[in-house]
Amino acid sequence: MNAHPLEEEGRSTRSIDPCIVVIFGATGDLTARKLMPAIYNLARESLLPANFGCVGFARRPKSHDEFREEMKKQVSDHSRVKPIEENIWSNFHEKLFYHQSEFDKDEGYEKLKGFLGELDAKLGTKGNRIFYLSVQPKFFPLIIEMLSKHGLIYKENENNWSRVIIEKPFGKDWKSSMDLQNHIQKFITEEQTYRIDHYLGKETVQNLLVFRFANSIFESIWNYKHIDHVQITVAEDLGIGNRGEFFEEEGLLRDIVQNHMMQLLSIVAMEPPIDLSAKGIRDEKVKVLQSIRPLSKNDFQNNLVRGQYGKGFIEGEQVKAYRQEEEVDKSSNIETFVALKLYLDNWRWTGVPFYLRGAKRLPKKVTEIAIIFKDAPGLLFKHHNSKNDPNVLAIRIQPDEGISMKMNCKVPGPSSPVQPVKMDFRYGAYFGKTPPEAYERLILECILGDSTLFARADEVEQSWKIFTPILEYWSKNPPKNFPNYPSGSWGPKEADDLMARDNRNWRIP
Ligand SMILES: NC(=O)c1ccc[n+]([C@@H]2O[C@H](COP(=O)([O-])OP(=O)(O)OC[C@H]3O[C@@H](n4cnc5c(N)ncnc54)[C@H](OP(=O)(O)O)[C@@H]3O)[C@@H](O)[C@H]2O)c1
Repeated sequence: MNAHPLEEEGRSTRSIDPCIVVIFGATGDLTARKLMPAIYNLARESLLPANFGCVGFARRPKSHDEFREEMKKQVSDHSRVKPIEENIWSNFHEKLFYHQSEFDKDEGYEKLKGFLGELDAKLGTKGNRIFYLSVQPKFFPLIIEMLSKHGLIYKENENNWSRVIIEKPFGKDWKSSMDLQNHIQKFITEEQTYRIDHYLGKETVQNLLVFRFANSIFESIWNYKHIDHVQITVAEDLGIGNRGEFFEEEGLLRDIVQNHMMQLLSIVAMEPPIDLSAKGIRDEKVKVLQSIRPLSKNDFQNNLVRGQYGKGFIEGEQVKAYRQEEEVDKSSNIETFVALKLYLDNWRWTGVPFYLRGAKRLPKKVTEIAIIFKDAPGLLFKHHNSKNDPNVLAIRIQPDEGISMKMNCKVPGPSSPVQPVKMDFRYGAYFGKTPPEAYERLILECILGDSTLFARADEVEQSWKIFTPILEYWSKNPPKNFPNYPSGSWGPKEADDLMARDNRNWRIP
C-alpha cells in the first residue's frame, strides 16, 4: 500500500485534526474557481481529515442541495483534475452545507453557532474551525469582530482550535494595513491569523527553499561576490478581464509587487533559517524586507517606472487598451506595469541590484527569478568570434515550472567559438505530475496549523513601508504619458532606459 502523502513528506497524519471550514463569500468568484476545487482535490487525495465539514456562508438564499449542485458544477469546470470523480464527490457532497446570512446580522452568527454545534455532533468535528474570509476586504474587520462577539472564535486550548484565513489584499497602504491589524488583533491572535499570499502555496516557490538550502554548491556563490544582479519578472499576457472595478482601486503595485514579488524576493535573498518552522523561516524573510533601502526622490525619478497598456496584439489578436476595459475610467491613471530597482543593505547583497518587473498584457505569461552571475574574469575567449554571456540561473515559477542554467560552451570543431547553452530542468517532465494548486496546499497547511506559507503581520507591515511612499509619490505626480506601452510589448521604453543606464538589459524570459 502506498504511504499517505503527508507521511511521504515525513509529517504525521495524526496531526490532521477533525474540523469544519466555513467559507464566507461562498457564492463568490474565488470560491467557485479556486477554493471549492481545492477542497475537493484535497478530498480526492485523502488529505482531508476523516471528520470534516464545509459550510458556505453568503447572502443569497439557497438550500444545502442547491449549493451542492452549484459547487459540483464549479468543481467540474475548474478542478485541475477532470472529470470529477462521482464516488469522491458523493462522499464530499454529504459534508457540504450552506448558511444564508448577511455579514452584519447578529442572528446570522447565532444561527451559525448553533448549526456548527449540530454538525460537530453529526460529523465528529470536535469544535475545530477554520473561517475563510473570501470577501471584499472592507468586511474583514466586521466578520472577525462578529465571530468573536458570538463566541465562534476562541483561543486555542487543549480541546479545540479556531483559525481565520484572510484573503488579500491586507490593507491598501501602510496606514490601512496597520488599522486592520490593530483591529483584528483585539479578537484573534497572530497564531490564529493566516494571511493568504497564494504565491507561497505554489510548489515552485516552496522548491526555492529546497533548491537554495538543500544544495551546498549554491550557498558559497549566492552573494555580492559572484552575483551581478537579480531580475524578478511577473508577467501576464491577460489584461484585467472583468475585474475593472477592483483594478481601478488596486493597481499593479498593490496587486502584485507589494505582496507576491516581495515574497519571491525575500525567499531568494534570505539567510538560511535555523530550522523549517514558521518562525524560523519568517524571521529570516522579514529581515530581508527590513534591509531594503528606502527609495529616495532620485529613485522615484530614475529607478521606478510605471506604465499602462494601450491597445495592441496578443498572439495575433487585437486587444483593447486598459482605458477601454469595462468599469475602467476613460482617463484612468492606474498602472498596469511597474519596474523598479531595489538594493538590500546587508552583507550578502551589498551593491547587488534587484530589478523587479510586474505587468499585465506583456507578450506572455511568465513568472521568473533570474540570477545573473558576474562575467568570467579575463574573457580569454573574447577574440574567437564568441558570444560570451554571463551565467544565468533562471528559476521559472510558472508556467512550466523549472530551473535552467545558462553557461558557455565550445562549439564543436577546430576553431573555438564560444556559445551560451542552456541546461534545462522541468518539474512536470521529470516528476510526471502536475503540481497541486496553491490553494490546496494553503488550506491543508491551515488545517495542520502550520503558518509557514502565510504572511506574518510584520512582513506585511514592512512591505507596505517600502511601497507606501511610492503610492504617495505617484498620487502627487500623475503620469503624463499613459498609455505608454502597447499590449503585447515588453513594456514602456522608460523601463529599458532604467536598465540601459546600468549597462544591463531585461531578460526575455
Ligand atoms: N476572484 C479572484 O480571482 C481573487 C483573486 C485573489 C484574491 N481575491 C480576493 O478574494 C476575496 C473574494 O473575492 P471574490 O472575487 O470571490 O468576491 P465576489 O465574487 O465579489 O464574492 C463576494 C461574496 O461575498 C458575499 N457577500 C457580499 N456582501 C455580503 C453581505 N453583506 N453579506 C453576506 N454576504 C455577502 C457574496 O454573497 P452573495 O453573492 O450571496 O451576495 C459573495 O459570496 C476578495 O478579498 C478578493 O480580493 C479574489
